[in-house]
Amino acid sequence: MELRNARAGQKAGLADNLSAAMNDNLHQLRCFGCGARIAGAAARPDFRCAQCGELFEVEYPGWSERKGPDRPNPGALKWLWRERRCSAEALDNSGVWRFRELLPILESFGNAVTLREGTTPLYHLTRAAKRLGIDRLFAKHQGMNPTGSFKDTGMTAALSVAKERGFEWVACASTGNTSASMAAYAARAGLKSLVLIPDGKIAWGKLSQAMDYGAVTCQLKADFDGCLTLLTQIVNEAPIYLLNSVNPYRLEGQKTPAFEIAEAFDWSVPDHLIVPGGNLGNSSALGKGFREMHELGLTARMPKISVIQAAGANPLVHCVNENCGNFIEPVEAHTRATAIRIGNPASWRKAARAIQETGGWCLDVTEAEIAIAKAEIGTEGLGCEPASAVTLAGLKKLKTEGKIAPSETVVLVLTGHTLKDADYTIDFHRGTLLDKDEATGREAEIEGLRRNAQVVEATPAAVLAALKGRAG
Ligand code: F0G
Repeated sequence: MELRNARAGQKAGLADNLSAAMNDNLHQLRCFGCGARIAGAAARPDFRCAQCGELFEVEYPGWSERKGPDRPNPGALKWLWRERRCSAEALDNSGVWRFRELLPILESFGNAVTLREGTTPLYHLTRAAKRLGIDRLFAKHQGMNPTGSFKDTGMTAALSVAKERGFEWVACASTGNTSASMAAYAARAGLKSLVLIPDGKIAWGKLSQAMDYGAVTCQLKADFDGCLTLLTQIVNEAPIYLLNSVNPYRLEGQKTPAFEIAEAFDWSVPDHLIVPGGNLGNSSALGKGFREMHELGLTARMPKISVIQAAGANPLVHCVNENCGNFIEPVEAHTRATAIRIGNPASWRKAARAIQETGGWCLDVTEAEIAIAKAEIGTEGLGCEPASAVTLAGLKKLKTEGKIAPSETVVLVLTGHTLKDADYTIDFHRGTLLDKDEATGREAEIEGLRRNAQVVEATPAAVLAALKGRAG
């Protein structure tokens, strides 16, 4: 007992010292377009720069100013973060706030609203690895978060800021997961939440969550981009805190899976990270997380970051490959992977930077490629939502094009849980998901993966006969 108390005291002392070293520098916001710097509380309600209209990112000036002996000791930070995994404290249990020295965005960490997000599993994808000839292929399953998607890591951060700043209402436009996450965290914090979603274009699992957690849910005759434009007008008129990923605090939370990944590889980062791209907050956030770890000396390099989009919703692909990441032309988005059905992504500049600075790629995959990859992830006993499966589909293309070597360590970021969109899965296995044109040329692969439920008589003989079709 005494030993435990002594250890707890040692940990608290180290945490205080590190916090003093990392937190004395209040954070500020830097415009990603013109570089203007403003105080966190001075941001406009739509989080756009008053001078150039671009988005902001959180910056901690003290980190770069402090060189030499005052620089936080990476070894001590790593030790502290590992120790916290054994702690019973709510904040230490969170895979976001466990790393709180790298996101000092609150006046008091006591204001953090947590559902014990993060600390998600990193699975070895053994079958896909074998098929593709890549030894070290992993999936970081962000669908294993409290509301079933990666959004929770960002929501705990930004919603805590909303609460600390005294807002009563929070809001988001969403393809479903952001709304589910926001509604849950708002309910925990006792705040009211408003959700704008495209009518008929989100998965039921996600809609049911927003309802259950008590959000005011408005289904609009508009796509995601239209919902976000409308919400921007609303927050400029009413005291409602915007929780889409244009809010830079969302990205501070969403950068923490990068820390978890690095920690899982004993701080030697993987060679390649593959992320789905929709509104492009996630790829931007993970890029920031890996960049900051590198700058602070926690890791020796950054992984290549590649972003994969659906072929029907691929504005970043054109932006990076044809326009050198300098401008984006919005598209009218169509894909059954409704989570990434986004034609005018807000964080494109930040995502383009993450790809370009790390030497990654940006490419798109077809509806059939997404459906096949999703079913393959299912066969590993993991499952994921369609938007997450673009990562495996993209990896296959990168491998075929010789852009990934067999010896490389690759991590796919699976963003959502398979139960979010059960209709998609059932339609695939019933053979009603894809139309003929989409499936052309892939019929054999699809048939090999389909596992439709069978109606059989309630006799042992009939059930045993059903096994024959699956022998081997
Ligand atoms: N995967 C899933 C499961 C998502 O829900 C989203 C985005 C993405 C990938 C793309 O991430 O936007 O950061 O590039 N969903 C948002 C929402 C837009 O409203 O739930 P991104």
